[in-house]
Amino acid sequence: MLARMGEKMAKDVQMGGVKSSETVSTAWNQAEWDLALQRNGEGWKRRHLLGLEPLSAPEITQILDRADLFRQSLDAGRRKVPLLTNRTCVNLFFENSTRTRTSFGLAARRLGADTIDFSTSTSSIAKGETTIDTAKNIEAMGIDCVIVRHRTPGTPEMLAHNLKCRVVNAGDGPHEHPTQGLLDIMTIRRKFGTLAGLTVALVGDISHSRTARSNIYGLQKLGAHVIVCGPSTLVSPRWQELGVEVAWNLDEILPRVDVLNLLRIQFERQASRPFPSVREYAFLYTMDAKRLAKTKDSVLIIAPGPINRGVEVTPEVADGPHSAILDQVTNGLAVRMSVLSLLHTVD
Ligand code: CP
Repeated sequence: MLARMGEKMAKDVQMGGVKSSETVSTAWNQAEWDLALQRNGEGWKRRHLLGLEPLSAPEITQILDRADLFRQSLDAGRRKVPLLTNRTCVNLFFENSTRTRTSFGLAARRLGADTIDFSTSTSSIAKGETTIDTAKNIEAMGIDCVIVRHRTPGTPEMLAHNLKCRVVNAGDGPHEHPTQGLLDIMTIRRKFGTLAGLTVALVGDISHSRTARSNIYGLQKLGAHVIVCGPSTLVSPRWQELGVEVAWNLDEILPRVDVLNLLRIQFERQASRPFPSVREYAFLYTMDAKRLAKTKDSVLIIAPGPINRGVEVTPEVADGPHSAILDQVTNGLAVRMSVLSLLHTVD
């Protein structure tokens, strides 16, 4: 039964995740799906998701397999999967967000949880309350899960030590953004079926990127070769200590990459400008049609967003047939449903 389901999912992957409603309605089997989800949850032990560095390859695979199930369910039009009824999740975001905040809120609601959106600008943080006191006061209202984004690395871990509820890292400064890493990896896996043997290039502002770190940890554990590429002011040779290849010339690596993950230049985290002008950066690193022509026909273009059109990628590439940028966002919802529901399998 599960093998049949696997065959169907493999077919979906080959189709790039694009399914006709006829395919879905004839193949969908609620009982099979429920059983697959139940089996997927067996053996999960963690209450928090703080990063991909501490996770094992089987744990990452477990999250991704579960996310595939949720993606299948979403594609079939099954909007609600009430696994978190009577639970409450709070979005505790101390930094701006469009995708992550909306996606976690929607994921929690699709799972049947109540949600609270904490806004720093209207909170008592301005009156001098600490992050821990703020979080403890919110937890005292009967919260089951805190999803936190903060500019300071380690904030999610600090909260995990100080709160009784589950904690999910939604991005801590330049440290990690585990659900972004997972949704990037899920998008790659859905196209190629596996990570093993693939060459994935992370291009741009590696130095300040939490997405880069989470991608590196996750991709390497699943067998991919990772290249980090960008100006030497944003890509130190010391990245090799994490086992990745370092490249400063994008044009040289293009013919051998399977995936290009285009990272935003994070001017807001930089004390000084790392290159003379955005125009110069664009000349050397913008992914445009000319550079795309140097890649494999099967190349996959992804970007965590927000994208700056004309800086890391041009519109014809961002909106072109190799791009999975919006598919990543859909996969993000499935990944967050997977993570929230798995963490709640542990008391
Ligand atoms: N990719 C990402 O984290 O986007 P947001 O900052 O909009 O959440």
